[in-house]
Amino acid sequence: MKTYIKKIYKPMLIFLAVAFLYNCQNQQKNQQTKEEKKMNVIKENFGNVDNKEIYLFTIKNENGMEVNITNYGGIVTSILVPDKNGDFDDVVLGYDNLDGYLKETPYFGAIVGRYANRIAKGKFTLDGVEYILAANNGENHLHGGIKGLDKVVWDAEEFQSEDGAGVKLHYLSPDGEEGYPGNLDITVFYTLTNSNELKIEYSAKTDKPTPVNLTHHSYFNLAGTSGRDILEHVLFIDADKYTVIDESLIPTGELRDVSVTPMDFRKPTTIGSRINKVEGGYDHNYVLNNGGEFAKVTELYDPVSGRIVEVFTSEPGIQFYSGNFLDGSITGKKDVVYSKHFGLCLETQHFPDSPNQVNFPNTILRPGEEYKYTTVYKFSVR
Ligand code: GLA
Repeated sequence: MKTYIKKIYKPMLIFLAVAFLYNCQNQQKNQQTKEEKKMNVIKENFGNVDNKEIYLFTIKNENGMEVNITNYGGIVTSILVPDKNGDFDDVVLGYDNLDGYLKETPYFGAIVGRYANRIAKGKFTLDGVEYILAANNGENHLHGGIKGLDKVVWDAEEFQSEDGAGVKLHYLSPDGEEGYPGNLDITVFYTLTNSNELKIEYSAKTDKPTPVNLTHHSYFNLAGTSGRDILEHVLFIDADKYTVIDESLIPTGELRDVSVTPMDFRKPTTIGSRINKVEGGYDHNYVLNNGGEFAKVTELYDPVSGRIVEVFTSEPGIQFYSGNFLDGSITGKKDVVYSKHFGLCLETQHFPDSPNQVNFPNTILRPGEEYKYTTVYKFSVR
């Protein structure tokens, strides 16, 4: 009997010990994965502006996609995504360091506002009061003025969420800044999700009625740093109409049907195939068919690399800007020269000059209301 117990007892002890060790190891592993997940936002110093520290945040998702964001101007400095062979490259224009952004930038990757796009002659009347804004684009006001949201230092905080990780940016634009009425309290959440999406959630509150129109100004080039321009990219825009503009790019008020014009992107079309028929190139606001609901509104595809970016939003418009003003005078990341049409912007927005256009959807935010919308840039390959 004794030997029998011994026989059973010994292997049992060994089994329990092994099971115990295995369990410990597993717990350690789980702990590690949790920590690894926690670590997918890295915060580094990127310089100093106005005696404030500027950070560069690196966010990486489970698929190896990587996004860099700085709290100077809320700029997305890089987006690394794979092509159809799995090779990663950076698909947005910008600079290697903060200095580039401080010297001169055509809004590369920035948060743009308070009013993205143009306000005619830098003037609007609200509740009987005329407001004068900076004329920083000929006689018109563009992208929030001389020192818009793309040139201010935002408070920044990294976060983890259910679907990914990101950076929360906050900025309080004081009453009168760049001529706009009211203290505008702005929050932007940038999230990189594990579905290869860059999600941008904008919100704002004011203490006086004021126009608000925020957007994101990345210049995409899905060919990466290969040196190709965007003219071979194929674009789809779900819009039956666009806002007709005058020679200073201010809407005339007319919403024109895109049918049988080079403006029609309802069927995916190569950008370069008709761009010569559009004076100056594409720099137009499309009237989206989304009916104000969050939906896919645009798809951009580079047949060579196979990279795709789809845009989802609830905003009524999107500015398709084909990088017409890039002229080779800027040398960007990795010493690539940004010549004409080297990048394109897909800026979700309300229509340009809405504060002066009675028939355009409202852009006036009033105290007690919340400005709020989301745009998603989703990356994939085909
Ligand atoms: C926007 C405008 C363009 C141009 C760029 C910045 O997209 O619509 O006309 O001003 O920004 O260069």
